[in-house]
Amino acid sequence: MNLTTRYMGLELANPFVIGAGPLVKDTKLAQRLEASGASALVMHSLFEEQLTREQLAMHHHTTLHEDSFAEAVSYFPDPEDYHLGPDEYLEQIAKLKEATSVPIIASLNGVTKGGWTEYARLVQQAGADGLELNVYYLPIDLEETPQEVEDRYFDILKAVKGEITIPVAMKLSPFFTAPLNTMMRLDKAGADALVLFNRFYQPDIDIEELEVISALELSNSQDIRLRLRWLAACFGKVQASLAITGGVHTAVDAVKAVMAGADVCQMTSAILRHGPEYVQTIKEDMVKWMTEHEYESIDQMRGSMSLLRCPDPGAFERANYMKVLQSWDLGTQSY
Ligand SMILES: Cc1cc2nc3c(=O)[nH]c(=O)nc-3n(C[C@H](O)[C@H](O)[C@H](O)COP(=O)(O)O)c2cc1C
Repeated sequence: MNLTTRYMGLELANPFVIGAGPLVKDTKLAQRLEASGASALVMHSLFEEQLTREQLAMHHHTTLHEDSFAEAVSYFPDPEDYHLGPDEYLEQIAKLKEATSVPIIASLNGVTKGGWTEYARLVQQAGADGLELNVYYLPIDLEETPQEVEDRYFDILKAVKGEITIPVAMKLSPFFTAPLNTMMRLDKAGADALVLFNRFYQPDIDIEELEVISALELSNSQDIRLRLRWLAACFGKVQASLAITGGVHTAVDAVKAVMAGADVCQMTSAILRHGPEYVQTIKEDMVKWMTEHEYESIDQMRGSMSLLRCPDPGAFERANYMKVLQSWDLGTQSY
């Protein structure tokens, strides 16, 4: 069975990539992930706020404006709240490169085109094979227009592409007015891969304590649906590679993602839930499924259920929305 795939210019042994998360902070876990069959590892993100804080600290040491510095840094979490600071992050890239032989994709997470994007060069120098950019931005400013929100993504992509020669992936939010148009613009602006989609962590309200609470919950296979639609719509229309992130928990999920158009399946929650050795299980299950269904390669399967190729493209579109709503049968319910 030929599971090989190409992702952002990297030749990968199979489509199972470890998504950004805490796992590869631990080099031994990274080795177990590789041994289990992961074809590439995406690191957890280094945040703009961490880099800006470092730059502010440098500025403070050179100019000694103590008061303004204290005020500026009070907006950021304490450094101890971050697991790895900028220097440790670069060291971790080097350690991962030494300890494993799969591609290492670093991750930067920011929302402005400020000086932090220059850090991408250090990420490349440290040995990263690629860089994923996560623009985790919540547009809650009433004055900011949709165009301005979208331009953030382009400005950051352009700033980073200007710093480095390794491939760059854009991890996107699903909440664009015209997601396909945004994806096509990013593709034209040089994104080497599009990663669909960021999973936003929604706040909850504790009604007794009157507190906003944020709890991190792992995904499940239902999360894949939103991604399938947009992968299927995007497949064949961009040069950039496509990755799914969100909801890949089983081989069946992975088959669906590849059929919709994914070049790789990033997994975070599934591995956190089942452990590093789960990569091997899901890989074996996929090979079994493909053999039973007489597929010979990932290439053969990719995009077969995309909008360009599937027998009923209308099922992804508005026509199906009407059909689905009208298909609910009240008769089967007893109230
Ligand atoms: C514990 C945890 C930590 C994560 N950390 C990051 C991160 O640092 N950067 C990032 O871009 N995404 C991060 N994510 C999001 C994942 O990379 C992924 O996009 C999301 O969990 C959806 O994929 P999944 O269904 O496979 O978990 C994290 C997710 C989890 C559960």
